Amino acid sequence: MIAIASDHGGYALKQSLIRHLTDRGVPVEDLGCGGEPVDYPDYAEKLCRAVLAGKAERGILVCGTGIGMSIAANKIHGIRAALCADCYSAEMARQHNDANVLCLGGRTLGSELAARIVDTYLGTGFSNAEHHIRRIAMIKDLEK
Ligand code: RB5
Repeated sequence: MIAIASDHGGYALKQSLIRHLTDRGVPVEDLGCGGEPVDYPDYAEKLCRAVLAGKAERGILVCGTGIGMSIAANKIHGIRAALCADCYSAEMARQHNDANVLCLGGRTLGSELAARIVDTYLGTGFSNAEHHIRRIAMIKDLEK
């Protein structure tokens, strides 16, 4: 299960990505918003809690730029949120950073590019290389 959430700035792209994932047969849970003006930290927290609770394997957050969502999500211990605007970054976010949340900008990305970024992110695994495991452990230490 993939969880997805947005504020009003990311609502249109969120709806487009839900259609894209559903068409591909990927189970997706929409955690809001419904297009009304909302505060993005509320939705970042809601989605990240779902990921940390194991209700979703990974999460996708969308706001106008993706910046607010990524800042808020990375405040939550255990979340490694990556703001991506290209497929290479999405691939590295998984391989090197084991990012469990992808952040996207609804006002900065076209829907086709965003869909490819999502496909790359969901289709890429963590490298499991010792040096990447060590660096992620170091990030966890920063949370203490
Ligand atoms: C909302 O207008 C906008 O500030 C929000 O979607 C996001 O871009 C913040 O980072």
